[in-house]
Amino acid sequence: MSRIYLSAPDVGSAEREMVDRAIASNWIAPVGPDLDAFEADVASITGRTHAVGVSSGTAALHLALQEVGVERGDTVVVSTLTFAAPANAATYLGATPIFVDSDRSTWQLSPDLLEEELSARAAGGQMPKAVVAVDVYGQCADYDRLIPVLQRFGVALVEDAAEALGATYRGSPAGSFGSFAALSFNGNKIVTTSGGGMVLCSDEEAARRVRYLATQAREPLPHYEHREVGYNYRLSNLLAAFGRGQLITLPERIARRRTINKRYREALKGAPGISFMPVAAYGEPNFWLTCITVDPNEAGTDRERLRLHLESADIESRPTWKPMHLQPVFADAPRRVDGTSEHLFEHGLCLPSGSGIDDGQLDRVIDALLEGLPATS
Ligand SMILES: Cc1ncc(COP(=O)(O)O)c(C=O)c1O
Repeated sequence: MSRIYLSAPDVGSAEREMVDRAIASNWIAPVGPDLDAFEADVASITGRTHAVGVSSGTAALHLALQEVGVERGDTVVVSTLTFAAPANAATYLGATPIFVDSDRSTWQLSPDLLEEELSARAAGGQMPKAVVAVDVYGQCADYDRLIPVLQRFGVALVEDAAEALGATYRGSPAGSFGSFAALSFNGNKIVTTSGGGMVLCSDEEAARRVRYLATQAREPLPHYEHREVGYNYRLSNLLAAFGRGQLITLPERIARRRTINKRYREALKGAPGISFMPVAAYGEPNFWLTCITVDPNEAGTDRERLRLHLESADIESRPTWKPMHLQPVFADAPRRVDGTSEHLFEHGLCLPSGSGIDDGQLDRVIDALLEGLPATS
């Protein structure tokens, strides 16, 4: 029996054909027709006029934060329940992240805590330069509540949609919010280029700047001329060709992850102590990962024992994000937290959710889950 992974790459024949074609065309560079087409396709899916392919989601966040004007000595609010990338990106620019907790009803950045934090900062006279709202686990943050707060305080929004390609918020696509949004095409994402990312925006000059910075800030001259420090961050044409192949089946990828989520919900319906990450009424997630919480007082086990039980059946699962404010590297960073993300980290578990998981494998995970939950008959 083979190991079942959390979110393994799901690769079809279109990717191979498109990469073969790109090789045959000899566009083996961080420019080329596949990169242009991949950018146009992603811009269209996310409702943006501009998209710039880069080497990772982290690079996308770095460039987005630089372009909203984050500088050494600034502060940047970041959702604390996330992967380290947005906090790292702020740190690359010499800024200090301020971690704000999630709303229990969505697991996304809390508009109430954000408002409290910005009010306190306004009273102290030192406003953050930007807020990075992360669409955690493929569900959008609550933008209709976040954006008015940001507008009131005049703070820029960057949407970290790394996990959320294909999700919607009140009919608008993930990636369409904020002055900039970032996507990731890392191997575990719903659409992968093995490694890659994209900066999304709706302003031609902003997109030109991002493309310029991602290309070593090279001036458009025949010789190599540089007036600013840039980065080697462009996505290669070969990887973009692979990404185009992946993108063709985005609707099917989402549908499969939704079905997997539904199967877990059906199988664990009524299981004592088991709750699922809530699906907010304001949108449609892409169901990137299905996450549960395990209440040890009711489930007859705890998150870690359940995780190890799955591991013993060669099934990968993972604790939900360790909040950034608990990370040793950010021990000194300011925070406004209310225990939500700490609770989720203590009790949360992400289940295998990849679109490549077949029904037999899903049955295996469900059997192992039920076996690992003694309070479930
Ligand atoms: C929320 C979030 N932001 C940013 C990233 C960074 O993307 P990358 O790994 O492509 O740098 C990831 C995941 O990888 C992520 O989950």
